Amino acid sequence: MRIVIVGFGTVGQGLAELLIEKRDELEETLGFEPLVVGVCDALKGSCESDDGLDLELILETVQRGESLSDLPGVGCDCDALTMIRQVDADTLVELTYTDIETGEPATSHVKAALRRGRNVVTTNKGPLALHYHELEDLARAEGVQFLFEGTVMSGTPVLNLIGETLAGSQVLEVKGILNGTTNYILTRMGEGLDYETALKQAQELGYAEAVPDADVLGWDALAKVTILANVVFGADLRPADSPCEGITQITPEQITQAAASGQTYKLIGHVWRERDEVRAAVGPQLLEDSHPLAGVSGATNALTITTDTLGDVTIIGPGAGKRETGYSVLIDLLHAWSVQ
Ligand code: HSE
Repeated sequence: MRIVIVGFGTVGQGLAELLIEKRDELEETLGFEPLVVGVCDALKGSCESDDGLDLELILETVQRGESLSDLPGVGCDCDALTMIRQVDADTLVELTYTDIETGEPATSHVKAALRRGRNVVTTNKGPLALHYHELEDLARAEGVQFLFEGTVMSGTPVLNLIGETLAGSQVLEVKGILNGTTNYILTRMGEGLDYETALKQAQELGYAEAVPDADVLGWDALAKVTILANVVFGADLRPADSPCEGITQITPEQITQAAASGQTYKLIGHVWRERDEVRAAVGPQLLEDSHPLAGVSGATNALTITTDTLGDVTIIGPGAGKRETGYSVLIDLLHAWSVQ
C-alpha cells in the first residue's frame, strides 16, 4: 500500500512510530507492507520518494525541529494538494488540524484524493462533521474507501463496532463521554488540581485540539456527536444544529460539593431519536457516583449504545493521545488494504 501522509503532528508521528514498531509483525502476520511515499506538513516541510521514505529519519528530523524539505534526495517544497494530486499513491492519510467551523484545509485534501481514486483515512473531524454525506457519496462513486475510525473515541473502535460488529442491530440512542481533554481536566480537578494546570497537562499529553478552547467549550464533543448522528443514524446535521455547552462554567467549588454528595460532573454527548427526527446535544451533567459513566476517568472515553437487539452495549477506551489515535489510522489502513 502506497501512502501519502498530509499533516505530521502528534497523530502522524504516533502512526509513524507504530508503523516502525509493528513493521515485522504486520508483514509476518498479515502480509501488510505499507510504503509511505510522501509526507507533507505546512510547518514541518515535505518530502517524497517513489521507493518509500525512511520513517525513522523523518521522525528524527521532525523531532530535531528541522524541515523535511531539507532532507537530502527526498525533501521538496510541494504543498499538500500538489502532493495529493501528483505523488503515485493508493491512500491519503489526512491528519491536518481540525477546524470544525470551515472543515478546511482537510475537506479540500479529502476531495482531491477521492477524485483521484485514492482511499482516504482521516482522524480530522471537520470534513466529517460538515460534509459526511457528500464525501461518502464521492468515495462510493470512485469505488474507494473513506475511513475515519479515529474521529470518535480515538483508536477505540466505536465506529467499526457499530458499523460492522453490531450488524443487523438498530441503534436507538448513543450517550457518553467523548472528549478526553475535558474528562482529564474534570478528573484532575476532582483530585484538587486547578483548571489551568490540568488543561496544560492535557495539552502536554497530546490530548487537546490545535484550536484553543475547542475542547473545553464542547466543540470537539459536538463534532463527534454530529459525526455519530450522521454516520450511525443517517441524519444530516451540522454542528451548529445542536445545543452545546462546555465545562468552563464548572467551578472547583461545584466539583468539591458534588463529590461530597456522591456525584461527579461529566461532559456528556448524546444522540437520540425524537419522533422522526435525530437530535444531538453536548453538555455537562451531574452523575451519581454509582452511574457507569461516573467512574470513567482521565482521557478515557465511553459510549453506551442502545440497540434493539442487545439493549445497552458500552464501549470504554482511550479517547485521545498520540499512540492511541495513531492506532486508529492503522486500523483503517488495514481495513482499506484488506478490501483492495
Ligand atoms: N481533543 C480531543 C479530545 C482529541 O480531547 O478528546 C481526540 O479527538
